[in-house]
Amino acid sequence: MTYTSRIDLSDHVRKQACALLQARLSDALDLEAQAKQAHWNVKGPHFLQLHQLFDSVHDEIEQFVDLLAERITTLGHVADGRITTTASATTLYGYPLEATGGEAHLKALAGSLGAFGKAVRVGIDQAGTIGDADTADLFTQISRETDKQLWFLEAHLQAH
Ligand SMILES: [Fe+2]
Repeated sequence: MTYTSRIDLSDHVRKQACALLQARLSDALDLEAQAKQAHWNVKGPHFLQLHQLFDSVHDEIEQFVDLLAERITTLGHVADGRITTTASATTLYGYPLEATGGEAHLKALAGSLGAFGKAVRVGIDQAGTIGDADTADLFTQISRETDKQLWFLEAHLQAH
C-alpha cells in the first residue's frame, strides 16, 4: 500500500527507497534482539560491564529501528515490524545460543553488527542512486553510529 503524499518524490522513488529501508528494518529488529540475547546471557569476570555495554548497544539499535520504520511511514508505505517478517527477511546470521563467555558474545554481536553496517553502507549509495538523498542521509547516520558501536565491541577484542 502506498499513501499519497505532498513529498516531492515520485511513487516509484518512494517505493524503491522503502524496499531498501524495509530490508534494513528487518535486520535491525533482528540485531536489536541479538543485543538483548547478549545482555541477558553473558557470563564471566567482566559480566557487569558487558551486561551494561550490550544493553547500551541495544538502545542504539532500537533508535535505528525507529528511524528506519518512521522513514518508511513518512514515505507513505507500511513499516513491517512483525516478528514473522523479521524472521524470514533478516540477512543476519542466527545468534549462537551456546555463547556463554564475554568473548563469545562480543564476537557474535560484533559479527552481526559488522554485517548490518556493511548492508547499511551499501544502502547509502543505493538510496543516492535512486534519487532519495534523505534516505541516503539516514543510512549515513545509522552507518556512522553502527561503526561507533562496533568500535565499543571490538575494543574488547583487540587487546589480545
Ligand atoms: Fe536488562
